[in-house]
Amino acid sequence: MNRRNPQLNRHGELIHLLSTEGLPRDILLHILDTAQQFVSVNDREVKKVPLLRGKSVFNLFFENSTRTRTTFEIAATRLSADVFNLDIARSSTAKGETLLDTIANLSAMAADIFVVRHSESGAPYLIAQHVAPHVHVINAGDGRHAHPTQGLLDMYTIRHYKGDFRNLSVAIVGDVLHSRVARSDIHALTTLGCPDVRVVGPRTLVPSDLAHLGVRVCHSLQEGIRDCDVVIALRLQNERMSGALLPSSQEFHQSFGLTPQRLRWAKPDAIVMHPGPVNRGVEVDSSVVDGAQSVVLPQVTFGIAVRMAVMGIIAGNEA
Ligand code: CP
Repeated sequence: MNRRNPQLNRHGELIHLLSTEGLPRDILLHILDTAQQFVSVNDREVKKVPLLRGKSVFNLFFENSTRTRTTFEIAATRLSADVFNLDIARSSTAKGETLLDTIANLSAMAADIFVVRHSESGAPYLIAQHVAPHVHVINAGDGRHAHPTQGLLDMYTIRHYKGDFRNLSVAIVGDVLHSRVARSDIHALTTLGCPDVRVVGPRTLVPSDLAHLGVRVCHSLQEGIRDCDVVIALRLQNERMSGALLPSSQEFHQSFGLTPQRLRWAKPDAIVMHPGPVNRGVEVDSSVVDGAQSVVLPQVTFGIAVRMAVMGIIAGNEA
């Protein structure tokens, strides 16, 4: 493990995926290029390659998930790994077993890769510090900190539809404050050379200290999405709001909800993305989610290939 960046070994190779922050551009591009090769596997009649044959992937989702958990399971299966989904609600976590004891016991069952979603920011880092050198950890979303595979599948989607990041304007709209997706997207976009990244939302939901990340903060939707190529709408994360940050979902929609009329402020061929799950009629109207500019479902599909790429790459590198 590299002391400065725990995701990399001493040769600078990816051994864990914990965050898009601090990942060099060549590693991000290697993941996207590898994912591109795996997309064709997903189109085959027999959707399997033997890359992870004999390896054991443990999915540990301490928070709910539909897209991430399922696509990790599909990705690992298509790489020929054995996949184990720990049912957290029925596990001994409910009896008070600690996270690290759980990891130690699953490691004793010969785990090779842990895919971890946890409400506590930093939980996957903690695990990565305690596993044996041959074991790899992938962050599937930790608190409001990071969701790196969502960030990578978003980059894959943007590159697929829009090409070179260095010509693009990307607006990230909504509840940036609580969004691990926003943070992962921002780090990936700026590393990949996107010259115009905007974060857009009400003052209560957009941190004021984002300028150092190389993004522009806008509190007006019209200004924020004007002439942009990509609009990424974020879910209002009510489960992470401790106080009354918003008067109501309706009020948010009135000022920042993406409607067909407002989408015309962006470029005519702008794509609309959303990590899901979508609050229809709050951050985005159904007619936009289901409309011609939406790439929300292709995002999900690309997530399989991106997660195959991440698992394939880290499993091939030694600590
Ligand atoms: N985008 C995302 O993380 O969705 P899930 O919570 O369903 O995994």
